[in-house]
Amino acid sequence: MSADVYNIICVHLSSSAVKNHKSSILAIDIMKYSRISETEKLANSWETRLYLEQLVTPSVPSEMSGSDVINGLSQHPKSLPPRYFYDDRGSKLFELICELPEYYLTRTETTILQECASQIAHLTGPAEIVELGSGSSTKTRILLDAYSQLGYPLRYLPIDISETILESSAYQLLTDYPSLEIHGIVSTYDLALAKLTPSPLPTRMICFLGSTLGNLNPEECDVFFSQIVGAMRLGEYFLLGVDLHKSKDILEPAYNDSQGVTAAFNLNMLQHLNRLFEGNFDLTQFQHWAFYNEEFHQIEMHLQSRRSQTVELRGLNLTVEFEEGETIRSEISRKFDLKIIQEELSRRGLVPLQVWTDKNHRFGLMLSQLQSKLG
Ligand code: AVI
Repeated sequence: MSADVYNIICVHLSSSAVKNHKSSILAIDIMKYSRISETEKLANSWETRLYLEQLVTPSVPSEMSGSDVINGLSQHPKSLPPRYFYDDRGSKLFELICELPEYYLTRTETTILQECASQIAHLTGPAEIVELGSGSSTKTRILLDAYSQLGYPLRYLPIDISETILESSAYQLLTDYPSLEIHGIVSTYDLALAKLTPSPLPTRMICFLGSTLGNLNPEECDVFFSQIVGAMRLGEYFLLGVDLHKSKDILEPAYNDSQGVTAAFNLNMLQHLNRLFEGNFDLTQFQHWAFYNEEFHQIEMHLQSRRSQTVELRGLNLTVEFEEGETIRSEISRKFDLKIIQEELSRRGLVPLQVWTDKNHRFGLMLSQLQSKLG
């Protein structure tokens, strides 16, 4: 062990935080053991800069009671909510997808962010950065760098369903940004948005990047925008990244990569369901299928049954019959028109301040400000 020490990182709660979150925190005393050097420990003082809150527990997430699985698998055509992609393995596979040559979304959004982060920081002034679905927080670094260059205090509130990914990226960020304070929340978006307390900084910017909005259908999108507006105070900011309409020659390969990572990501959902609900999906008897539905401007991902078969999810008391070739739709990934989405935001009181795109107009980033609560 020599110069290394095992440091206990306690999660500190201020008295006001305890008051505000008393009923919602399931794990107040989250303690993590990490092997760091004495010098690093002193330099980083993680203990005082990290506050981790858990609104869902990994073993029995209340949001994953399974009623949505029963619903989706009992209907024709069958479907499953994309939230079941994201167990730890699923989150890691998604990180790999983001690096695939065919998956242009992440790269393109990153390039746009690199070009406009400084403008964003100038427009918002010192702001707490909230990120929904923070994952590895790679893109956040671009924003943190821009805020740091202007001498703004750095406060980051990542929200992610995967505790593992949230924690590891938080530790990495704390090491790399010595003045950064992090309040991480392990949660679904809706729970976390409902529990947001006012920021100690003058304002806040909620970021929803990566075109995750596209994974919601229009009705879910409506609910989501209401939750966003409900969580915001007047004058606060919303940064939204969306994938734009384009040819299916570009879209389809992005969801059918040559290395089969997207296929593994899709099939992993069945493995996750097996674990959560004592299921017996045989992953070799389903295959990945993704195509662009031009009418609805959306990629659709399906899991297709290779033969007629019966699957049981004992934990849900559910038996599901599949015909050969029958599919479960596991995800939609909608592609947007910038004008339409700006109009939609404006109707909600979120006034677009600035829009950025890449040179090929593949992806769009929009900064809007809540100027009125219209509904
Ligand atoms: C998270 N989300 C924005 C991704 C997308 O592109 O819709 C999920 C994904 N599905 C397959 N590849 C990536």
